[in-house]
Amino acid sequence: MANEANNFQELISHCKEYGYIFQSSEIYDGLSAVYDYGQLGAQLKKNLRDEWWKSMTQMHENIVGIDAAIFMHPTVWKASGHVDNFSDPMIDNKDSNKRYRVDHLIEGHAEELGQDGKKEEEYALLKSMDELLAKDDFAGLKTLIETNNIKCSVSKTCNWTDVRQFNLMFKTEFGAVASDNPEDNIVYLRPETAQGIFVNFLNVQKTGRMKIPFGIAQTGKAFRNEIVARQFIFRMREFEQMEMQFFVRPGTQMEWYQYWQNARIAWHQSIGIPAEKLRFHDHVKLAHYADAALDIEFEFPFGWKELEGIHSRTDFDLTQHAKFSKKKIQYFDNDLNEEGKPYGNYTPYVVETSVGLDRLFLTVISLAYAEEKWNKEDGTEDSRVVLRIPAKIAPTKLAILPLLKKDGLPEIARQLMNDCKGSFMCFYEEKDAIGKRYRRMDAIGTPFCVTIDHQTKEDNTVTIRYRDDMRQERIALSEVKNLVLSKL
Ligand code: GAP
Repeated sequence: MANEANNFQELISHCKEYGYIFQSSEIYDGLSAVYDYGQLGAQLKKNLRDEWWKSMTQMHENIVGIDAAIFMHPTVWKASGHVDNFSDPMIDNKDSNKRYRVDHLIEGHAEELGQDGKKEEEYALLKSMDELLAKDDFAGLKTLIETNNIKCSVSKTCNWTDVRQFNLMFKTEFGAVASDNPEDNIVYLRPETAQGIFVNFLNVQKTGRMKIPFGIAQTGKAFRNEIVARQFIFRMREFEQMEMQFFVRPGTQMEWYQYWQNARIAWHQSIGIPAEKLRFHDHVKLAHYADAALDIEFEFPFGWKELEGIHSRTDFDLTQHAKFSKKKIQYFDNDLNEEGKPYGNYTPYVVETSVGLDRLFLTVISLAYAEEKWNKEDGTEDSRVVLRIPAKIAPTKLAILPLLKKDGLPEIARQLMNDCKGSFMCFYEEKDAIGKRYRRMDAIGTPFCVTIDHQTKEDNTVTIRYRDDMRQERIALSEVKNLVLSKL
């Protein structure tokens, strides 16, 4: 584990060094749990988003995509339950004033017990925590922390406040209109993209003439004032979600819940995540809107954690929005039931798939990162850091490298660049020795490099070098584009 933690720190440094991820506002010492994606990170993120969007909308005739605003009417969040329920139990240490999420504090202690070989105590502690959380028994949680002598990592004391709920939504003021009641101008930064889909259910269903079952997909920013934001881009205060709400006939939701579990885990594997690194984890405590829920977990460098949530959200959201907006939000189902009559009007049930784009990014990049060492033929050691990002999502697909900056080689390379850049992302580089350029391309995860040398002028062939096994072969210049396309 220690080794993995070290590797994780190196991965974070690597992401910064090669333009994948920077701390937000770094020149001002950063902003906690907020990150910027650099030139390569933004492209990798876009590729992941595009893959998801294609799999949802292009590959499913009955799923369409929208792009709703981040600001929504404040009543949306009252209706959805977020104003009253979107909170985590927190506890403060009275000596250090440090605030903890209760589940994180207890889980951290349980992990230490596990590392000390006290596996039974670890499981017993987690079991008690789950039971108390399920009952919202805050006094019981505090007693659990005290009886296990769980200490604050800063003050090293066990001097705790009571457990309290802390709402995670960010508030801001909307417009410049003065009001007697300051609450009138308050809007929230959306904590999930899903509500933008629910409030547009009728708009999309009617204008798109959608027939149940059908889905609405959306990607976009979400904001949560996470108290304990940690593990790099795993838990952020500003992050991006890719969510799809699938509207179904009441009573069929469990079939679709099963369908989307299978579909989503297969999708993760299709972008190169190995099956043994993924697992399902059923929720012990269901959210206020769900009748079934599970997480797809990934084995991150710091342990198994949630990557995606799949939730059977019943008719909760549409019913709540109908109630709060006083609008009828229903669907008329013309299809005939067993008695030969139309199903008629009903409020659809919803199965949701919700994956964090940043967590998916962390999944892909932590799988891809490798530090490699080997012995060369002359007995000396060689090494490299490589990002083995699958070619179809790698930010740059092809590096075009003229061996020298003269003798007409750059002209041939530029011609190849012009031929290829309309079809996929290319990178042109004529500086430094070729070996150094290959290493740099390995470090940023470029799957193919093509070198143009003097032989190219004689027989129109080039050297293509494959990132993963460092193999090199000679191919016709005219074949380069098709070869790369065939690997994507
Ligand atoms: N609409 C349902 C919903 O938002 P969630 O389980 O709270 O459900 C869905 O969030 C996904 O969003 C998570 O599985 C995770 O990938 C991502 N996510 C949630 N909070 C996050 C955070 N603070 N930072 C990064 N990603 C987050």
